[in-house]
Amino acid sequence: MEESMKKICLFGFLLALVIAGLGEVNGAHECGRKNPDMEAFKLAPCASAAQDENASVTSSCCAVVKKLGQNPKCLCAVMLSNTAKSSGVNPEVAMTIPKRCNIVDRPVGYQCGAYTLP
Ligand SMILES: *[C@@H]1O[C@H](CO)[C@@H](O)[C@H](O)[C@H]1NC(C)=O
Repeated sequence: MEESMKKICLFGFLLALVIAGLGEVNGAHECGRKNPDMEAFKLAPCASAAQDENASVTSSCCAVVKKLGQNPKCLCAVMLSNTAKSSGVNPEVAMTIPKRCNIVDRPVGYQCGAYTLP
Protein backbone atom coordinates (compact mmCIF):
# COMPACT_ATOMS: atom_id res chain seq x y z
CA MET A 1 0.00 0.00 0.00
CA GLU A 2 2.62 2.46 1.07
CA GLU A 3 4.92 1.19 -1.64
CA SER A 4 2.39 1.90 -4.36
CA MET A 5 1.86 5.39 -3.00
CA LYS A 6 5.56 5.99 -3.25
CA LYS A 7 5.50 4.80 -6.82
CA ILE A 8 2.65 7.10 -7.66
CA CYS A 9 4.49 9.98 -6.04
CA LEU A 10 7.67 9.13 -7.88
CA PHE A 11 5.80 8.82 -11.13
CA GLY A 12 4.15 12.17 -10.57
CA PHE A 13 7.47 13.72 -9.71
CA LEU A 14 9.12 12.35 -12.83
CA LEU A 15 6.17 13.42 -14.93
CA ALA A 16 6.49 16.93 -13.52
CA LEU A 17 10.18 16.92 -14.36
CA VAL A 18 9.49 15.77 -17.91
CA ILE A 19 6.84 18.43 -18.39
CA ALA A 20 9.14 21.06 -16.93
CA GLY A 21 11.89 19.80 -19.19
CA LEU A 22 9.71 19.99 -22.28
CA GLY A 23 8.63 23.45 -21.25
CA GLU A 24 12.26 24.39 -21.01
CA VAL A 25 12.96 23.23 -24.52
CA ASN A 26 9.89 24.82 -26.01
CA GLY A 27 10.09 27.82 -23.73
CA ALA A 28 13.73 28.51 -24.42
CA HIS A 29 12.54 30.86 -27.11
CA GLU A 30 13.06 34.54 -26.77
CA CYS A 31 9.33 35.05 -27.06
CA GLY A 32 8.35 32.88 -24.11
CA ARG A 33 6.30 29.96 -25.29
CA LYS A 34 6.01 31.45 -28.74
CA ASN A 35 8.35 30.79 -31.57
CA PRO A 36 10.01 33.90 -33.06
CA ASP A 37 9.60 32.38 -36.49
CA MET A 38 5.86 32.18 -35.95
CA GLU A 39 5.71 35.61 -34.37
CA ALA A 40 7.47 37.00 -37.42
CA PHE A 41 4.32 36.41 -39.47
CA LYS A 42 2.74 39.15 -37.39
CA LEU A 43 5.18 41.57 -38.95
CA ALA A 44 3.45 41.18 -42.30
CA PRO A 45 2.14 44.78 -42.14
CA CYS A 46 5.78 45.85 -41.82
CA ALA A 47 6.92 44.05 -44.96
CA SER A 48 7.72 47.13 -47.01
CA ALA A 49 8.92 49.17 -44.05
CA ALA A 50 11.34 46.39 -43.14
CA GLN A 51 12.86 46.35 -46.60
CA ASP A 52 12.99 50.02 -47.45
CA GLU A 53 14.20 52.55 -44.95
CA ASN A 54 12.25 55.22 -46.76
CA ALA A 55 8.95 53.41 -46.84
CA SER A 56 6.35 54.81 -44.51
CA VAL A 57 5.50 52.62 -41.55
CA THR A 58 1.83 51.80 -41.29
CA SER A 59 -0.01 52.15 -38.02
CA SER A 60 -0.79 48.44 -38.05
CA CYS A 61 2.92 47.71 -38.37
CA CYS A 62 3.72 50.06 -35.51
CA ALA A 63 1.07 48.43 -33.35
CA VAL A 64 2.64 45.01 -33.85
CA VAL A 65 6.16 46.29 -33.26
CA LYS A 66 5.08 48.15 -30.17
CA LYS A 67 3.54 45.00 -28.76
CA LEU A 68 6.54 42.82 -29.58
CA GLY A 69 8.86 45.55 -28.33
CA GLN A 70 7.56 45.09 -24.80
CA ASN A 71 9.91 42.15 -24.88
CA PRO A 72 13.02 43.47 -26.67
CA LYS A 73 14.58 40.03 -26.73
CA CYS A 74 11.56 38.74 -28.56
CA LEU A 75 11.40 41.67 -30.97
CA CYS A 76 15.05 41.14 -31.75
CA ALA A 77 14.61 37.41 -32.29
CA VAL A 78 11.63 38.06 -34.55
CA MET A 79 13.53 40.58 -36.66
CA LEU A 80 16.42 38.17 -37.03
CA SER A 81 14.24 35.10 -37.53
CA ASN A 82 14.41 32.93 -40.58
CA THR A 83 10.84 33.82 -41.37
CA ALA A 84 11.71 37.51 -41.46
CA LYS A 85 14.81 36.81 -43.47
CA SER A 86 13.03 34.72 -46.05
CA SER A 87 10.32 37.38 -46.28
CA GLY A 88 12.96 39.82 -47.46
CA VAL A 89 13.29 41.71 -44.19
CA ASN A 90 16.50 43.66 -43.97
CA PRO A 91 17.43 43.44 -40.27
CA GLU A 92 19.29 46.74 -40.41
CA VAL A 93 16.19 48.46 -41.76
CA ALA A 94 13.84 46.52 -39.49
CA MET A 95 15.72 47.78 -36.43
CA THR A 96 14.76 51.32 -37.36
CA ILE A 97 11.04 50.58 -37.38
CA PRO A 98 10.44 51.23 -33.65
CA LYS A 99 12.15 54.60 -34.09
CA ARG A 100 10.22 55.38 -37.27
CA CYS A 101 7.06 54.53 -35.36
CA ASN A 102 8.11 57.00 -32.68
CA ILE A 103 7.54 54.40 -30.01
CA VAL A 104 8.60 56.40 -26.97
CA ASP A 105 9.28 53.48 -24.68
CA ARG A 106 11.21 51.50 -27.24
CA PRO A 107 14.39 49.81 -26.01
CA VAL A 108 16.88 52.34 -27.40
CA GLY A 109 20.40 50.95 -27.46
CA TYR A 110 19.22 47.37 -27.18
CA GLN A 111 21.83 45.14 -28.72
CA CYS A 112 20.19 42.85 -31.20
CA GLY A 113 22.67 40.55 -32.84
CA ALA A 114 25.04 42.77 -34.81
CA TYR A 115 22.62 45.67 -34.55
CA THR A 116 21.74 48.30 -32.00
CA LEU A 117 18.22 49.62 -31.77
CA PRO A 118 18.20 53.33 -32.58
C1 LIG B 1 16.21 56.49 -48.99
O1 LIG B 1 16.37 57.87 -49.19
C2 LIG B 1 17.71 58.32 -49.15
C3 LIG B 1 17.69 59.84 -49.24
O2 LIG B 1 16.78 60.25 -50.21
C4 LIG B 1 18.46 57.65 -50.31
O3 LIG B 1 19.80 58.06 -50.29
C5 LIG B 1 18.39 56.15 -50.13
O4 LIG B 1 19.02 55.51 -51.23
C6 LIG B 1 16.95 55.69 -50.03
N1 LIG B 1 16.91 54.28 -49.70
C7 LIG B 1 16.16 53.41 -50.35
C8 LIG B 1 16.24 52.01 -49.89
O5 LIG B 1 15.43 53.72 -51.28
